[in-house]
Amino acid sequence: MPSRVHLLTGATSGLGLEAARRLLADPANHLVVGARSPEAMAALRLPAEPDRLVVLPLDLASLDSTVRFARAVEERLAGRPAASLAANAGLQFAGPRRLTADDYEETFQVNLLSHAVLIERLVPCLAPGAPIVLTASGTHDPGNRLARFFGFRGGLFPDVERVARGDLDATASVAQQAKDRYATSKLCTILYAHALARRLSPGTARVIAFDPGLMPGTGLARDRSAVEQWAWSTVLPILVRPFPGASTARRSGEALAEILLGRRCTDDSGVHVDHRLVRTPGSADSLRRDWQDALDGFVRRIAADVATPTADRRWPTKLTAR
Ligand SMILES: NC(=O)c1ccc[n+]([C@@H]2O[C@H](COP(=O)([O-])OP(=O)(O)OC[C@H]3O[C@@H](n4cnc5c(N)ncnc54)[C@H](OP(=O)(O)O)[C@@H]3O)[C@@H](O)[C@H]2O)c1
Repeated sequence: MPSRVHLLTGATSGLGLEAARRLLADPANHLVVGARSPEAMAALRLPAEPDRLVVLPLDLASLDSTVRFARAVEERLAGRPAASLAANAGLQFAGPRRLTADDYEETFQVNLLSHAVLIERLVPCLAPGAPIVLTASGTHDPGNRLARFFGFRGGLFPDVERVARGDLDATASVAQQAKDRYATSKLCTILYAHALARRLSPGTARVIAFDPGLMPGTGLARDRSAVEQWAWSTVLPILVRPFPGASTARRSGEALAEILLGRRCTDDSGVHVDHRLVRTPGSADSLRRDWQDALDGFVRRIAADVATPTADRRWPTKLTAR
């Protein structure tokens, strides 16, 4: 059997690390991972010979870093098609809005925009039918009871530029605005997944939005207070176990790996699946074609812009009006 190369972001901890472990358990699989600190990945002692795991620098808070990573992946692949692409990295802040050096709200840029730029660039490097999996979240859905219990009220989409700036609802508390930005980044993830699936020609890559469920204990709570982090790692994994929307990083990582390996969701594209790999529609908002198209147009302009040399750029990579 020919070896397979899988491309993965967010594999240094939590869901992505579990998926990487699963993929590397089969000697036929090779992994190219993008990580902020490749040394941290090396310290994880994954079960692979050195040449089966390549870790390249990637900071999704920077469009330049994202483009450099995409170029490095293309060089590594050297014309050999990749078997899958998992846009999994993500973060969540608890405090005030943070803008990146590119001038986008950081949750939006890391969770969606840079991943979209990466995907637009790497689609031609994927094998026919290869899955592109974008990690979503039940927090995008105002009807998700578990998410509501934790204070999420669904993604907001006043217009695409306000979303990109993280300017969603200035009347809400700082903590609520931070939750709104995370939920919105995940709503955008699903909107983009649907738009991309409609746009890609049949026989090219397939697109799946994957909701891993609530997985307490991962690194996602790292911006929270010490008490909240303690509860996230010790109490919550037990408390939420009975809820159907809850999972563990290991269980959801295995499910993610099953999609990447082409064993599950084999013919699916433009779908949203939960951690049991059951198709769910997602929120009504995530199915809005007008929002899908507005977001898709926006990220494609940015992707086209960053692909051109700075002097030739026609579209401003940074948002203009503030
Ligand atoms: N935990 C949950 O309950 C839950 C529920 C629904 C969805 N999700 C989603 O699942 C995905 C994985 O999250 P997790 O829970 O496994 O959390 P995690 O343990 O914190 O993993 C997040 C990963 O994203 C990477 N990352 C963060 N910012 C980055 C950046 N600027 N550039 C490159 N990589 C970056 C982290 O790398 P570093 O080591 O460099 O920080 C880490 O590998 C995320 O998309 C998250 O939104 C999680």
